[in-house]
Amino acid sequence: MKVLGIETSCDETGVAVYCGERGLLAHITHSQIKSHSPYGGVVPEIAARDHIRKLLPLVRTVLNEAGLPASAKAVDGVAYTAGPGLVGALLVGATFARSLAYGWQLPAIGVNHLEGHLLAPMLETEPPEPPFVALLASGGHTMLYEVTGFGTYKLLGESVDDAAGEAFDKAGQLLGLGYPGGPAIAKSAEIGRSGRFDFPRPMTKQNNLNFSFSGLKTHVLYQTQRLAMNEQDTADVALAFEEAVVDTLTQKCQQALHSTRLNKLVVTGGVGANKRLRQNLRTKLPKSSIYYPRMEFCTDNGAMIAYTGHMRLKQGDRSPLSIDVKPRWPVTKD
Ligand code: KG4
Ligand code: ZN
Repeated sequence: MKVLGIETSCDETGVAVYCGERGLLAHITHSQIKSHSPYGGVVPEIAARDHIRKLLPLVRTVLNEAGLPASAKAVDGVAYTAGPGLVGALLVGATFARSLAYGWQLPAIGVNHLEGHLLAPMLETEPPEPPFVALLASGGHTMLYEVTGFGTYKLLGESVDDAAGEAFDKAGQLLGLGYPGGPAIAKSAEIGRSGRFDFPRPMTKQNNLNFSFSGLKTHVLYQTQRLAMNEQDTADVALAFEEAVVDTLTQKCQQALHSTRLNKLVVTGGVGANKRLRQNLRTKLPKSSIYYPRMEFCTDNGAMIAYTGHMRLKQGDRSPLSIDVKPRWPVTKD
């Protein structure tokens, strides 16, 4: 079964074709970063309009790269991100995908973006076998799940305020490093000197698996007001911030593995691309197996939606003809 996957929940237009027998056939991600960076963050209206411009040409290109015709015979189903995300951006992808499926007389399935991130490591050559603990750390979400099988996800903990990626983005803005903050802070921190500031590791002393990142932002703000903020100051604050987020995420993963008695960890979502996080997890969890999607599938992409859609369609799930998106949509059943 071949499935066309369409992702438009935020500022990336992702299109891919996944084949049950042959794996991922083709994928493309168009990033809108250049359009949003002058504003310091994602502008929902610009995002939606850009998805409209890009979707059709990207679908044609992906089908062509997969060696498939741009016709009803190309695929057996169409999957699209139906939430969570920006409502206008989601509606563009959902309307496009649902209409294409209708025109081609194919089944369609609205996919949960969070489930897409959780399953992204399944696209790799040695995918993790459940059960495992999954850390999903993106721009909109920071969550720990216990994954016991496809479709069975138990929420162990989540952020009570900002998501980890959101904290990176806000701290990046305070430091004048631009958008998105995650990669910019990581770059600046490369020349940072460790130990100059004492940033906390929020909620790590508490006996639960929740996170809080908004206080770290205030620590960044305080230093930017106190210091001259030359390149070295910026790098030192960036490093203190990055180390605090990375240490906090690592400690919570340790606690989650301990409380579930599992030794397999999956790390996914945009923040999963952070190299310092990967190094820290490797050092602090020497006995655990750690799985990541490839770098380009940590951030938003169509491949994870095509894969998740394929799994859902295979088990008989179908979306109705009505076009429905959910700006908020937990991946857990309860
Ligand atoms: O998963 P994603 O593409 O979008 C959402 O679903 O939110 O994640 C984007 C987030 C942004 O907040 C970005 O700053 C962060 O992931 N990010 C990083 C890195 N690359 C992207 N954060 C830290 N280090 C990175 N290398
Ligand atoms: Zn995402």
